[in-house]
Amino acid sequence: MTKSRRDPLSYLQTELDSLKAQGLYRRLRVLEGEQKAETTVDHRKVVNLSSNNYLGLTTHPRLREAALDATRRLGVGSGSVRTIAGTMDIHMELERRLAAFKQVEAVVVFQSGFAANAGTVSAVLTKDDVVISDELNHASIIDGCRLSRATIKVFPHKDVAGARKVLESLPAAQRKLLITDGVFSMDGDLGALPELCALAEEFGCIMMVDDAHASGVFGKNGRGTVDHFGMHGRVDIQVGTLSKAIGALGGYVAGSKALIEFLYHRARPFLFSTSHPPAVAAACIAAIDVLEQEPQIIDRLWENTKFFKSGLQALGFNTGLSESPITPVIVGEGATAMKLSDRLFEEGVFAQGIAFPTVARDKARVRTIVMATHTRDELQFALDVFKNVGKELGIIGA
Ligand SMILES: Cc1ncc(COP(=O)(O)O)c(C=O)c1O
Repeated sequence: MTKSRRDPLSYLQTELDSLKAQGLYRRLRVLEGEQKAETTVDHRKVVNLSSNNYLGLTTHPRLREAALDATRRLGVGSGSVRTIAGTMDIHMELERRLAAFKQVEAVVVFQSGFAANAGTVSAVLTKDDVVISDELNHASIIDGCRLSRATIKVFPHKDVAGARKVLESLPAAQRKLLITDGVFSMDGDLGALPELCALAEEFGCIMMVDDAHASGVFGKNGRGTVDHFGMHGRVDIQVGTLSKAIGALGGYVAGSKALIEFLYHRARPFLFSTSHPPAVAAACIAAIDVLEQEPQIIDRLWENTKFFKSGLQALGFNTGLSESPITPVIVGEGATAMKLSDRLFEEGVFAQGIAFPTVARDKARVRTIVMATHTRDELQFALDVFKNVGKELGIIGA
């Protein structure tokens, strides 16, 4: 008979109870169908403003067919990590296509954007190096920095003078990595890429950008912020994701041949985790075809973005400094953001509340993301609901 045993994880329940008491406890919402502009979540038909599926590619017929065809031809799994037996020709084809698309020498694909960031930063830096990082950079960059054991110097958000001050305090011979998000995921503003590239050149830093939310969204045919700002050749390491606008799953690093070969040898998620199923690689290749051949989808995303963002602003919501299809509705208290999200949902609009620790304690928000595939009627419906619920909760004036 097993002896009764005190649960050594009981403190976790205490933490959860505390989240509930603060109104910050979140139940996972469940989609009952495809990831689309209008969908069914928890048995309710809603306009979906929570998805990173910017271009609607998760259900694009060309991606779906490519994935099905690859599954029929090549099976459902790769069966190994890349460095042993898990490099199929379809993985190499995807890397070649991405390199040509991004106009770089080479690309390596990771299982996710998270793995690409964390695996790359931790591989290229050692404990003797310094990383200079925007305070709002993504968690995967922060984890990569921690894993590298390099000294981490954080500069205030987009504060180029602040970054310069840090750089001036470091010895010239110090190896340094300057890193920013291309699009900040919770605020939707753009990294100060041109100014940071100039700083990196002045101080001899490695320049890195995480373009997860810019991939497929910014630049010609969705090439990202390096293309958007005309910074080709000035960013040493570009990370992109295949999980958001590209519609499937994965992340990639674009740069020099030497960088990519080094990552083949040293990036731990590449070395120690199984590669993508062929269907994922095939869908991503088809997505590049779509970006190149159907750029009107990206135009549609931007038309919808302008319509919805200006609509929220006209209603009097605080949308921060967003410059992208990500538009936050900043309300302050975490509990208010969760209440707003819940009421929107009850009225047929799915937009998640985001609170501390994902954003600062006094900057809780509901985050909205429009898609190319939203109709004007759907977006107008969402604006009407925001107006009514915003008034009801006293977030905007009556
Ligand atoms: C800025 C940023 N970088 C990286 C990632 C990770 O990308 P993925 O979802 O492909 O792992 C995300 C996703 O949340 C992100 O927002």
